[in-house]
Amino acid sequence: MATTKAPGAGRYLPENRTLPALRHAASGCRGCTLYENATQTVFGEGPRDAPLMLVGEEPGDQEDRQGHPFVGPAGRLLARALDAAGIDPERTYQTNAVKHFKFTRKETKRRIHQKPSRTEVVACRPWLIAEIEAVRPQVIVCLGATAAQALLGTAFRVSTGRGEVLDLPAEVELRVRQRPMVVATVHPSAVVRDRSDQREETYRQFVADLRAARSAGRRVARRAV
Ligand code: URA
Ligand code: SF4
Repeated sequence: MATTKAPGAGRYLPENRTLPALRHAASGCRGCTLYENATQTVFGEGPRDAPLMLVGEEPGDQEDRQGHPFVGPAGRLLARALDAAGIDPERTYQTNAVKHFKFTRKETKRRIHQKPSRTEVVACRPWLIAEIEAVRPQVIVCLGATAAQALLGTAFRVSTGRGEVLDLPAEVELRVRQRPMVVATVHPSAVVRDRSDQREETYRQFVADLRAARSAGRRVARRAV
């Protein structure tokens, strides 16, 4: 975990940790260098009491321009998959492990997505932790390795651990009464990009993992009453 002296989002966190206050503070975050080239901070969105939180990697090109998470092609696939899994997208809180778009520019001026580094993921994690503490979801779905490793540790592998209902490791300190369960799966853009004859199966498995998260939420809910 970052110390107070280390760079990172920690020192930008407001005392008031409501979602609107967090969103406002995150808009001025300079906890790593990614704010320099991106258009804006893309903070999470959704009901403040959403039972399910979805965590992606970082905003994409469209998200960076529009300022909202999951509004591009990956978001459209995600919405369809949630629906197929019996989850109302409107009842989910959607965010990313890293809140600024990282990219390179090709001669064509097209902006090419770049994966955030571990340092950037760690720098940005205070926002994610604050979102989890504010929303207090029953279940967190990590979409892809970046999100999964942000919360489950760098040893976690999506290929072997996907679809399993896991406890959040104790190292992730959270000021909540009931810690959320975690389910990891692939990133929706991996499904979008899959042009192989496995595509249908890739999508089907993605939906199955989302369904596992949904029923984990039900179990948590029953335990709470
Ligand atoms: N991919 C992500 O990880 N997050 C978004 O918000 C959009 C695409
Ligand atoms: Fe801050 Fe995260 Fe943006 Fe880096 S990526 S500047 S830590 S909000």
